Amino acid sequence: MKQGVKIALLGFGTVGQGTVELLTKNLDVIQNRISVPVIVDKIYVRNPDKYSHVALPATAAFVTDYKEILQDSSIDIVVEVMGGTTFARTCIEEAIIAGKHVVTANKDLLAEAGPYLMELATKHHVDLRFEASVAGAIPIIRALYDSFGSNQITEIMGILNGTTNFILSKMSEDGLGYEEVLKEAQDLGYAEADPTSDVEGYDAARKLAILGSIAFNKRIFFEDVSCEGITQIDASDIQFGKEFGYTIKLLGIARETKKGLSLNVHPAFIANTHPLASVRGSFNAVFLRGNGFDEAMFYGRGAGSLPTGSSIVSDVMEVARNVVQGKTGEMKQFYYPQKTMYSSSKIESAYYIRMTVDNSTGVLAKVATKLAEQRISAHSVIQRKADNDTATLAIITSKCPHAYIQNLIDSFNHLRVVREVGSVIRIMVE
Ligand code: NDP
Ligand code: HSE
Repeated sequence: MKQGVKIALLGFGTVGQGTVELLTKNLDVIQNRISVPVIVDKIYVRNPDKYSHVALPATAAFVTDYKEILQDSSIDIVVEVMGGTTFARTCIEEAIIAGKHVVTANKDLLAEAGPYLMELATKHHVDLRFEASVAGAIPIIRALYDSFGSNQITEIMGILNGTTNFILSKMSEDGLGYEEVLKEAQDLGYAEADPTSDVEGYDAARKLAILGSIAFNKRIFFEDVSCEGITQIDASDIQFGKEFGYTIKLLGIARETKKGLSLNVHPAFIANTHPLASVRGSFNAVFLRGNGFDEAMFYGRGAGSLPTGSSIVSDVMEVARNVVQGKTGEMKQFYYPQKTMYSSSKIESAYYIRMTVDNSTGVLAKVATKLAEQRISAHSVIQRKADNDTATLAIITSKCPHAYIQNLIDSFNHLRVVREVGSVIRIMVE
């Protein structure tokens, strides 16, 4: 019987420290549940002095050469919490080949190479776990491959990025400015090293690719997801949305129908009564549809040190159980290489359009003519004087394919009375 399961960390930032904190704080709980202690042994960092203020468990020591971890045959599990897709990939591949189990939070890498890494892990009879890579503390990966494994999943819809949800919530509820709230999200450890990933929707797109791969059993990568971020959203859009009875969210939506797979990340207005409207701050939520369980929704903290550490430690515990029992490769996943994509331009939605127009007579008639030419109706319109010369128009349209809206915006841009089309945002009507 093994006396303990030894782990080593690669990286010791927000998530690495949260992982060690939880392992230390819940030492007894964890040991009771898996029957052996989890021992933090080596922690690979570039500059140990940077972390001299953090108390380490007595068993742990910093190393500055990751090979020391790979060459240490007593280490069972490598926890990769550095991020990035080059060095981290090298480390993970080398760890797998060295026969070590791997736990990672690295969605960037998984959305680029997840299926290949899974195959490599299977080939070398080790576990590769990545619950922390999507939706922080929410056990959504486990739910998809395990709890709902008997179902055909048809839809995933979720708030998958804590930083943008935090930003949109604070802008909407406290009237704070975008830059100020982004800085707060960074200080709280929610944002990626380069927050462009968060605000441009890439982080949510990567998470959607990971979820889609497991849910639909296909090789889905980041580039399969069509992606729009929140950088174009203005405080006035949030305000108009409120007047129409909507809340704005950055949504990730993946569907598999007979026509093919569609994977999209974009901001969307949802009715204030929609369950996702109440998901605020750094919280995430994932809504699933399947042909057996029907509907399910998961809610929890989507980012931050301890919430992400919680998922990492759960994975470590699952792998540790396997180590103790001498089993590996429990998460068997087969990814079909073929996939048929359904173009985003064909997906129908209602739209909110905000534009600056001349403050003169006949403008509404000209705008209405363009809508009629595209066979789109305006369900609601708010017109507000901006200054002596201009007015702001906020229009809610009927449902139509995205391609029609693009044509409509092109035609607005050619109208002399339209100064600027400021925002075009989808509205989720069901
Ligand atoms: P941090 O930037 O806080 O920490 C990263 C750590 O990795 C630092 O210790 C850093 O060391 C080290 N590191 C980075 N690159 C290298 C390298 N090339 N060689 C050696 N060490 C390196 O990031 P987080 O902890 O926030 O994120 C870690 C991972 O977890 C990422 O993949 C991220 O996407 C993911 N994640 C993050 C969440 C969060 O809420 N923060 C939630 C879910 C997933 P140094 O100090 O020397 O730079
Ligand atoms: N930057 C990510 C987010 C971290 O804000 O959701 C969690 O994956």
